[in-house]
Amino acid sequence: MTEKLYEGKAKILYTTDDPDILLTHFKDDATAFNAQKRGTIVEKGKMNCQITVALFQWLESKGIPTHLIKQSADDKILVKRVKIIPIEVVVRNIAAGSLCRQTGLEEGSKLPFPLVEFYFKNDELGDPLLTRDRLLILELATEEQLKQLQNLALSINQHLQEFFASCQITLVDFKLEFGLDKQGKILLADEISPDTCRLWDQTEKDPQKRVMDKDRFRRDLGKVETAYQQVQKRVLEQLGSA
Ligand code: C5P
Repeated sequence: MTEKLYEGKAKILYTTDDPDILLTHFKDDATAFNAQKRGTIVEKGKMNCQITVALFQWLESKGIPTHLIKQSADDKILVKRVKIIPIEVVVRNIAAGSLCRQTGLEEGSKLPFPLVEFYFKNDELGDPLLTRDRLLILELATEEQLKQLQNLALSINQHLQEFFASCQITLVDFKLEFGLDKQGKILLADEISPDTCRLWDQTEKDPQKRVMDKDRFRRDLGKVETAYQQVQKRVLEQLGSA
């Protein structure tokens, strides 16, 4: 018997017959600005599912533990049941988005080192940026877990940057979520897709045309589906030829 466990903005989580395994369904629904803007991106569920599977498998091959078991349909994956750590880990290589708004850094400026940030995964509070001490006071993670999250995020960034570069895509920034398995081991969870990354086409210099991610939807740049399709095509082609 499967039952709906949780419905988020872009995915639905179902139970399966095995209590240790859940099913994730990727939806076509798109939201931005904490769901103040809503829409649909045609075939997004399938595209994000394919891209996530490809990237998670690739990261696994590099030694990054993930919750992915296998893809079970075009827009569905089976995953290990984990307790999601309520922290959104954002890694940035180039200034964009909220970093520019909050610091005045110019969009597109290369950061001197990858910036790892922790945000509180809490819709009611609008996912605020946390300090290390706030994290500890809220008991969202232990000091040891924070160290592990930081190291995992940096390692994932290195692998992904290299991979996307081979697809002629610049990895500007992205968001990760992690969960704890039954043994308390930290696994990469959720998704990695154009919904959760900023990806710029290296073959395009125009600052609007180069955008291949959800910013096309957020900023009404048009051709959202085409951008997602391009990311999917390049990622899958690159892995096929790797
Ligand atoms: O909005 P901001 O610049 O902080 O986003 C940084 C990165 O994290 C972007 O790639 C964005 O798509 C991703 N993100 C996300 N989910 C959130 C917040 C940010 O995927 N709730």
